Amino acid sequence: MAARGAHSAGAPSATPPPSFDLTGRTALVTGGGRGLGLGISRSLLTAGADVVVVQRASPSPELATAARAADRAVDSYRADLSDVHALPALVARILEDHRIDVLVNNAGTQHRSPAVDFSLDAFDAVLDVNLRVPFRLCQLVGRPMLERGEGKVVNVASLLSFQGGLTVPAYAASKGAVAQLTKALCNEWAASGVNVNAVAPGYMDTDMNVALLADPARREQISQRIPAGRWGTPADVGGAVVFLSSAAADYVHGVVLPVDGGWLAR
Ligand SMILES: NC(=O)c1ccc[n+]([C@@H]2O[C@H](COP(=O)([O-])OP(=O)(O)OC[C@H]3O[C@@H](n4cnc5c(N)ncnc54)[C@H](OP(=O)(O)O)[C@@H]3O)[C@@H](O)[C@H]2O)c1
Repeated sequence: MAARGAHSAGAPSATPPPSFDLTGRTALVTGGGRGLGLGISRSLLTAGADVVVVQRASPSPELATAARAADRAVDSYRADLSDVHALPALVARILEDHRIDVLVNNAGTQHRSPAVDFSLDAFDAVLDVNLRVPFRLCQLVGRPMLERGEGKVVNVASLLSFQGGLTVPAYAASKGAVAQLTKALCNEWAASGVNVNAVAPGYMDTDMNVALLADPARREQISQRIPAGRWGTPADVGGAVVFLSSAAADYVHGVVLPVDGGWLAR
């Protein structure tokens, strides 16, 4: 009978080390040219992936700098993702140029107003960008992944997938739904080799939070509640996305992974 621990003390192990290497993979990151999306793109490039970004504006020059530093390629498409009906043509164009191995549904929008005055137009606009577009992109980019029998989808959820927030009812509704959509797609796609997961960033220092960051009292109140003692950065989210995009996460399906400095544990 083999002794316990026979594989220790220098004996070769049959189990390869977990791989976070994304060399040879191409990731599509919506909103990947600034904010959290830029941090995610940079992390994916550093992990070896080529990156394709989609947003309305030109991406920050930092994206090309990061690609050069990593000796990887970036490509950029400009599109307004609020028009869900334009997505099939956009995705067809992207798929003609690239095989997409990783889809990161990061682009998102916010609208603040007391619920009682919240306009239905604003509600629909937030739901379109934050929920309907990720669903449609999962369908359009997910289909060839399912045909190949491999692929990774990482949706960007939020603390407000778990909590209700204040004066952001459409955002909270959309991000709650993104978490449920992640689980629903996981149940259908996991057996076909496609991992569908989400990250749920906490309070991040990006343009989306300028209103909070500009209010010293609110900013301090939030900082004090975060166990890590600081707001998150785009790089903090990038590491979690690399993990969920990599072979190390091959058996991880349907999780909504908080990246929040411990906020939800409080
Ligand atoms: N910041 C946070 O504290 C926080 C916390 C939890 C979750 N999140 C989520 O993280 C994601 C990124 O947020 P962020 O903080 O980086 O926000 P941000 O700084 O406002 O950036 C939003 C990104 O989405 C793109 N985008 C927005 N509307 C678009 C549209 N109609 N068409 C195409 N692209 C569009 C923007 O690009 P263009 O403007 O060039 O189009 C930009 O790249 C969002 O899903 C957000 O909900 C953020």
